[in-house]
Amino acid sequence: MKIVLLARDVLRSLKYLVPKPLRALLRSQRQAAERRMLVLDRVTDWSVLRRLRPYRSEFGGRRGKYIDRFYIEAFLASCGESIRGNVAEIQSDEYTRMFGQSRVTHSDILDINQGNENRTISIDLTQTASAPGNAFDCIIFTQTLLLIRDYPSALRSLYKMLKPSGVLLVTVPGISPVVRGGLIAGEGADWWRFTARSARHVFSQVFDDSNVSVKTYGNVMTATAFLHGPVQEELTRQELEFNDPDFEVIIGAKATKQVAT
Ligand SMILES: C[S@@+](CC[C@H](N)C(=O)[O-])C[C@H]1O[C@@H](n2cnc3c(N)ncnc32)[C@H](O)[C@@H]1O
Repeated sequence: MKIVLLARDVLRSLKYLVPKPLRALLRSQRQAAERRMLVLDRVTDWSVLRRLRPYRSEFGGRRGKYIDRFYIEAFLASCGESIRGNVAEIQSDEYTRMFGQSRVTHSDILDINQGNENRTISIDLTQTASAPGNAFDCIIFTQTLLLIRDYPSALRSLYKMLKPSGVLLVTVPGISPVVRGGLIAGEGADWWRFTARSARHVFSQVFDDSNVSVKTYGNVMTATAFLHGPVQEELTRQELEFNDPDFEVIIGAKATKQVAT
């Protein structure tokens, strides 16, 4: 066992001898090949889900696109017009570019994580006093509120950072496995789950309730798929898009900062 672990560590270190662009190319080719193989391992018989552990680990991510990303992207697409001007996004600028397009005049990347070389603003969002004021027309804050123990302070910082009429776009998971370690900096833990009702409540503590709108995404099939690892490519568009408010896979909240009167 020790030898296997050692060999794995050596292989992992060797990987860094390959130049970064070549590594990215090889990774994308491997992922494309895996997606082509998907048809051979498609979940068509759902009796495979009669089991005590997930059918596939890690949300099935190596096989295709995560189910929850379909809903996160649907929510952001529905708010596309608000992604404009000075835009900040947590961790990367992926969604700023994808949904803001030419409406964005300046883009920042927020992160507490010193290891994130792409960040343009180092910030601990729980420290509201040191957050910049009135800086952004839009902040994209996906899949992060659940990771911040003191999320009310983070929401107050995000409010402070918006210009008047600025828009905060947040997604959080509803039905989801616990996320452990790895991708999380900061306090490094999965703290919270929200429902549409509790999301509205916590946003209304900071924003005016009339400036908060909340949407939910998902249904029993996509919730089950998300827990067991089938990916977007294994479901039909109709199955992904069907909305059953009793199964909240993703909750999207849009909150606008009131113009001072
Ligand atoms: C899981 S990522 C999610 C963002 C990603 N764009 C997405 O949609 O999946 C969470 C990010 O929030 C950052 N983070 C965690 N706690 C934070 C805090 N208190 N202040 C600022 N950033 C924080 C983490 O370092 C990480 O980059």
